[in-house]
Amino acid sequence: AATRIPLVAGNWKMNFDHLEATYFVQKLAWLLRDARFDYRRCEIALMPPFTSLRSVQVLVEADKLSMHYGAQSVSVTTQGAFTGDVSADMLARLGCRYVIVGHSERRKYHPEDDANIVDQVRAVLTAGMQPILCVGESFEERRQGIQLEFAVGQVHDVTRDLSDAEAARLIVAYEPVWAIGTGMVATPQTAQDAAKAIRDDLRETFGAQVAEGVRILYGGSVTSDNAAELIEEADVDGFLIGGASLDVEELSRIARLT
Ligand code: G3P
Repeated sequence: AATRIPLVAGNWKMNFDHLEATYFVQKLAWLLRDARFDYRRCEIALMPPFTSLRSVQVLVEADKLSMHYGAQSVSVTTQGAFTGDVSADMLARLGCRYVIVGHSERRKYHPEDDANIVDQVRAVLTAGMQPILCVGESFEERRQGIQLEFAVGQVHDVTRDLSDAEAARLIVAYEPVWAIGTGMVATPQTAQDAAKAIRDDLRETFGAQVAEGVRILYGGSVTSDNAAELIEEADVDGFLIGGASLDVEELSRIARLT
């Protein structure tokens, strides 16, 4: 992870209304300021529900906070009769830097298949934001010993049609489904093996320069108890955090450890 600036991204999922989000952002900023946190050493991003994005934007802009924010999903269409959808341009206009794409919960509860995920990635890139592409095997694939091929395949399916310049703006989050919300965090070696396999595939497709620049995050039961050893791994460039990102003290601890 030496030359890449680590990213600590909090995926709030369907938690916090806009008032809770406002409180959280202010408190996180205070905690990090008191800890003299260096945002140039480690980047922080919050991924609230759509309904809190505007509140987060106002705070970040008013206080010139050094943290970033983004959305948890996006429509593949640009505008029109798509009830309930939110377009990439709408998110970009709210100052979003990132959009999570292909989270396993979206793949499971919504009809988000590979083709849809490719289109989301493209929509995010076209609007000038960066996709955080989530991949990772379930317990079944791990039992069969095909976890690396599976995760790499999920990345490859999305990236193969991207240009080098587009691929360079991608962030990948390796989130094994069995580790999400279970307390069963992957070992540092497991996270490293997957991140390395993904980076090797990116190198084959796009060359060393792109592959060395892409940040690969780990996600799945990350806490302040395991973050320090995970970030030691050469190809782990930060975290996508669910449960622990809802506790502001805990999130600030993880950021300081990263
Ligand atoms: O996107 C983050 C995620 O799915 C991991 O959730 O609660 O295991 O940290 P959690």
